[in-house]
Amino acid sequence: MHNGEEETIEEIKVLVADETHEKYVDTILQTIADAAKDRGTGIAKRTHEYVANKMREAKAVIALVGDRFAGFSYIETWGNKKYVTTSGLIVHPDFRHLGIAKRIKDMTFTLARMRWPHAKIFSLTSGKAVMKMNTALGYQPVTFDDLTDDEAFWRGCEGCVNYPVLKERNRKFCICTAMLFDPEEHLPAKIPQEVLDRIAALEGHAIER
Ligand SMILES: CC(C)(COP(=O)(O)OP(=O)(O)OC[C@H]1O[C@@H](n2cnc3c(N)ncnc32)[C@H](O)[C@@H]1OP(=O)(O)O)[C@@H](O)C(=O)NCCC(=O)NCCS
Repeated sequence: MHNGEEETIEEIKVLVADETHEKYVDTILQTIADAAKDRGTGIAKRTHEYVANKMREAKAVIALVGDRFAGFSYIETWGNKKYVTTSGLIVHPDFRHLGIAKRIKDMTFTLARMRWPHAKIFSLTSGKAVMKMNTALGYQPVTFDDLTDDEAFWRGCEGCVNYPVLKERNRKFCICTAMLFDPEEHLPAKIPQEVLDRIAALEGHAIER
């Protein structure tokens, strides 16, 4: 309430994006570019079509406050879907520190786990907020060797101001912290391959580990 007037606080909606959200793509890309400029880092540059496709493929999560864009992130797969990243996390400056990034990250992570349950989920970031959220979800710090060797992923680093460092160090070190969620490490016990083979024979299909 302000001076007796009622204030309407609009609900923050966080949802899996679809083709109806394509109208937000240019705003999303501009907000990502502005944030990268402010932070003095680079970003993996994506086109309008690339992001719109992520929406059509149910690989993107958007936050809206009424009709206004509030936040976004999308999922990418690498190395034959053996690795997944939740990428391009952005919350509009008007809506920061409200827990929106956390809600978006929780949803992209859940989506990734559901669609590729055997994939390793990794993150390469210099952002403290992202490191905190990754840790809460069970990601562990790793060396760059533990990440995908998919060239398409590493090409995303070429737009970063620190790319010369990465190149000089043969992709082994850079300014960013590498973090990895390995689904196998989150199982309480490791089942020997011969037992998996026995179960596969009983059920008539292979069990991936
Ligand atoms: C980073 C960003 C996505 C955070 O969005 P947000 O909606 O304000 O974050 P949340 O409110 O959900 O906070 C999530 C967690 O990060 C922490 N956090 C948020 N902003 C932070 C900051 N600038 N520095 C340190 N921690 C921060 C919060 O305290 C919270 O942790 P907690 O759960 O332990 O309290 C947003 O500031 C942003 O878009 N920044 C520019 C783009 C960017 O840096 N993207 C990440 C690329 S790696």
